[in-house]
Amino acid sequence: MGPLNCVLAAMIFMICGSAAEDYNIFCQYDVGSIAYKNESQVYPWYIDTRMCTHLVLGHGFGVNETGEVQITDEFLLIKHGFLKSAAELKIDNVKKILFTLGGWADGESRRLTQVISNSTKRDEFYKSLTIFLRKWRLDGIQIDWRSPSQDSKPEDKKNFVTFLEGLRLSAQEHKFIVMVAVLGRTDKKTLAAYNIPAIVKEVDFVNLMLHEERDAHSRKLGYNAPLYGPEKSMDAAVKHWSKAGHAPKKLIMGIPLFMTSYTMDKKKSTVGSPSKGPGKTTPYTRRPGFMTYNEWCPNTKKWAINFDNKFMVPYATQGDQWVSFENGQSISAKMNLLKNSKLGGAMAWTVDADDFSGRCGQEFSLLFAIFEALGDIKTLLTTTPKYEPSGLCPRDEWKRDHWDCRLYYECRNGQRYYYECIKGEFFDEKLKYCRPEHEVECKQDFVIWRPGMPLYDMENFPRNLKIVE
Ligand SMILES: *[C@@H]1O[C@H](CO)[C@@H](O)[C@H](O)[C@H]1NC(C)=O
Ligand SMILES: *[C@@H]1O[C@H](CO)[C@@H](O)[C@H](O)[C@H]1NC(C)=O
Ligand SMILES: *[C@@H]1O[C@H](CO)[C@@H](O)[C@H](O)[C@H]1NC(C)=O
Repeated sequence: MGPLNCVLAAMIFMICGSAAEDYNIFCQYDVGSIAYKNESQVYPWYIDTRMCTHLVLGHGFGVNETGEVQITDEFLLIKHGFLKSAAELKIDNVKKILFTLGGWADGESRRLTQVISNSTKRDEFYKSLTIFLRKWRLDGIQIDWRSPSQDSKPEDKKNFVTFLEGLRLSAQEHKFIVMVAVLGRTDKKTLAAYNIPAIVKEVDFVNLMLHEERDAHSRKLGYNAPLYGPEKSMDAAVKHWSKAGHAPKKLIMGIPLFMTSYTMDKKKSTVGSPSKGPGKTTPYTRRPGFMTYNEWCPNTKKWAINFDNKFMVPYATQGDQWVSFENGQSISAKMNLLKNSKLGGAMAWTVDADDFSGRCGQEFSLLFAIFEALGDIKTLLTTTPKYEPSGLCPRDEWKRDHWDCRLYYECRNGQRYYYECIKGEFFDEKLKYCRPEHEVECKQDFVIWRPGMPLYDMENFPRNLKIVE
């Protein structure tokens, strides 16, 4: 948020006011969103750490055959330093940083299922987890357990609780946070897959989600997270998990900030109408049935936007395209339910999908709708933005140095941060990491001299010498 926005915000908040409450605001950050194109790319340091109490990293974490926690996307998390950068974001209001395991990625959920059902692997998991958390200075783990999955077995329900019992003992000893993300739907099949009282007992937080990545592939138009409704609703999920779990303070309401898109059949736009399948692939996120809010919002004029008063969520149509999303009104209604039900807080899933750069108005406008209801507005006024843009870098990106193929830099909020490849490697501008010299195209028609290299004398002094310090 720029200084001007702050002033503006200050003026507004004087009038609205807001009491500080003890709510948690979890910000899920999909590190993989860096693969989105152009203005939709989100770097860790873009995240407004004033509006989150917990940062939760998703993408690139897994378990291997022996049950040990490992990084599956070394390229992004290690080579590009994203994990380190993200772990450094424990500033402003962010008190804790968690990472996520599980979810829908086929191999990952299968391997996790193997871990929960095998005591040897479970023990390996607990052991490696504490080492992993310490190594990367993380404060906890979120297990994304959206049961029942395609290949889940009946015994998974019991095994998952056994797994959580061991995890809790380890967490108590090593002081880390345990959160599980569950599918909060209240249909028979979903409810049968979870031992709700046991799960709630063993963990610190339960992230109640209604959305599912595969929904867009279903044959019906569906909302991501309707507040009311017969098939799935936040209201029903909250009531059921509160009653069965006996600990509403542990429940965290998952708010989807991304958009799900469908292709309508015969332009029937009422929710539940037949769908021909996922919506069209869009230029930035390039995933059928999916869009980020920041990608969509600059084009809202071309869409017919409606608000469904029965389900309390908006939707929009354009041609044969249909999208489900959240706006200030739908989030505000959910926050009322959250407060009335005395839940522990909300989860913004995922903040990279939000209008993080303020293309359509306020920066992080959806997250702000959550923060406005749950957070302490005053903190937005008393903390200053982290980085002062200096104008050296027009846009955030990784570039090779103009002179030296071994040197590269990162533009971040207008600042340049220099790095150097190890000897024998050049920075590959296309792949954006260091690779062996002979594999990288480098048209260096000058001679580099670094401290420690042999000195030149008048005779062999190159005319095109570039000194690198
Ligand atoms: C994204 O950026 C690239 C390079 O800057 C440009 O060529 C392309 O047209 C942009 N794509 C969109 C969809 O704006
Ligand atoms: C449990 O895991 C261990 C180690 O990975 C393996 O040796 C063992 O066969 C597994 N047990 C079962 C019952 O699958
Ligand atoms: C599992 O991962 C750990 C940690 O990265 C590693 O030490 C171990 O060798 C891996 N085991 C297998 C079988 O891949």
